[in-house]
Amino acid sequence: MLKKIATGVSVLLLATLTACGSGGSSAKDGDSGELTMGFAQVGAESGWRTANTKSIQQSAKTAGIELKFSDAQQKQENQIKAIRSYIQQKVDVIAFSPVVETGWDAVLLEAKRARIPVILTDRAVDSDDDTLYETFLGSDFVEEGEKAGEWLVQNTEGPVNVVELQGTTGAAPAIDRKKGFEEKIAARPDIKIKASQSGDFTRSGGKQVMEALLRSHPDVDVVYAHNDDMGLGAIEAIKAAGKKPGKDIKIITVDAVKDGMQALADGEINYIVECNPLLGDQLMELAKKVVDGEKVPKRVVTEETTFTPEQAKKALPDRQY
Ligand code: AHR
Repeated sequence: MLKKIATGVSVLLLATLTACGSGGSSAKDGDSGELTMGFAQVGAESGWRTANTKSIQQSAKTAGIELKFSDAQQKQENQIKAIRSYIQQKVDVIAFSPVVETGWDAVLLEAKRARIPVILTDRAVDSDDDTLYETFLGSDFVEEGEKAGEWLVQNTEGPVNVVELQGTTGAAPAIDRKKGFEEKIAARPDIKIKASQSGDFTRSGGKQVMEALLRSHPDVDVVYAHNDDMGLGAIEAIKAAGKKPGKDIKIITVDAVKDGMQALADGEINYIVECNPLLGDQLMELAKKVVDGEKVPKRVVTEETTFTPEQAKKALPDRQY
């Protein structure tokens, strides 16, 4: 730890930097010859994120990749510091899930100049220069938003008042899930988004925003939450307001983590669009190829499905996360 302090990494970041994987020494200075990956995670904001972190840590171990892992606590500056520290440590490959879309060019250019390949996982960056990263592995968030919108169009009648609980402002899934949803509901002018606010992808954020929205929009028919956690927070707020989630107010969410699936099976959520967090194995495979100089596709899209309450009941016993 003292050695790392000497490298100039900030105290806050050091508190969250954890060496995982099979050993203490890095492939660069050690003797194992194994590949070293620096992974800058967004945070631990949701059940999805916890499952994603677990998947990455387990897959690194299985693949014999030494993982240097940092949790940015949903702050871009922490992720940038982590990436800089990985460049300093001369890791073989850097992977990260960008908390927001913009503002990455400078640090990615530093990695490129240090000849360290970068893999984007889960979330994309908004940059004109796609040579700054090797590949992007993750979901099609626009499609997820479209699936949510399609369900609403097909399963409701008459005027429908929607409130939207957005993810972290500026994050790819928040931007894209909104876009896809709006595109689909455009076919039904009687569906109106009455309010759209960020709950930061957290359960407490979803609850807090929903409490306020229930006061300002007592006529709400549907909640569209950009993830399960915010939907679960909204359920608490709806119950506290004396209404029945899933009946008085319908709820659509994205993710399909266990807690969300349980609420769906219990009839408190009406529909979930899956977002798969188990990216670890694919990430390690891509990392090995990239480090070996093999060609990889610029975009690898995760396969996903959707769930109704009946499907959730069937899937729950085998759900891994
Ligand atoms: O980027 C994926 C999103 O981030 C998940 O849907 C959400 O739960 C997480 O916080």
